[in-house]
Amino acid sequence: MTIDILPLSGAIGAEIRGVDLSQPVAAELQRDLLNAWHKYVLILFRNQNLTDDALLNSSSWIGPLGARSRPAERRQEKDPYIMLVSNIRKNGEPIGSLPDGEMWFHHDMAFVDVPHKATFLYSVEVPDHGGNTKFANMYAAYDLLPERLKKALAGKRVMQIFDYKETSQPRLSDLDKVKHAWHPAIVRHPDTGRKALYVNRLMTVTIEGMPHDEARAIIEEVIPFAEDPSIIYEHKWRPGDFLVWDNRCSTHARTDFPETERRLLKRGMIEGAPLMPA
Ligand SMILES: [Fe+2]
Repeated sequence: MTIDILPLSGAIGAEIRGVDLSQPVAAELQRDLLNAWHKYVLILFRNQNLTDDALLNSSSWIGPLGARSRPAERRQEKDPYIMLVSNIRKNGEPIGSLPDGEMWFHHDMAFVDVPHKATFLYSVEVPDHGGNTKFANMYAAYDLLPERLKKALAGKRVMQIFDYKETSQPRLSDLDKVKHAWHPAIVRHPDTGRKALYVNRLMTVTIEGMPHDEARAIIEEVIPFAEDPSIIYEHKWRPGDFLVWDNRCSTHARTDFPETERRLLKRGMIEGAPLMPA
């Protein structure tokens, strides 16, 4: 089987044509998909038609599914692997776990000790306008950093914190109430060997071994590089899009969309390993 690979931007992402993810992926194709995924960080398959069972196997060429981190009492769905990302309500109750509107740039699951390495999103219903997903290449973010900031982060760990809020960060004084984890500020990708920045606006709260004010000042200097327009691709969803990205070397954010528009995506993740410092 031959596949076509079309870059989505100069920054990150490629569309792969010629693959039906509802069918088993042969060994040779698995290798081609993994190579493309490592090269482009984010890959897109359009016009997919996936039942929930097919969705569970859709990324087995990357690895086994990872269970969700959100506690069962704070989510609407029963399935431990597939999350509904939706603003749709039934009898006044949201059917999904993530609320409406904007969401800041983040690495998925950075707030746990062993984050899942990949996330996939499959779109079922999308608004005509807004609700796009932006992806930023964290290899490129690292490369953009001035030497001074690379030095400031070298060998350091950062704390990642999250409280299931999308556009704000909990305070350090609330640590006992929210999920948090220490990770290298710069990670080395286990397959590509490349260095990637592991700092993001939503979750990165402080740097180990320095006064908090100093750490905040550095993080605030780093964020504009992590969100530089030159390293970002903005995806406008169509129904049937299947996107899968690498959480070790990319971040993503969501743009706002009108409350009146229905949006339904299904999300799953692939198990990871402890992050390696660079
Ligand atoms: Fe996310």
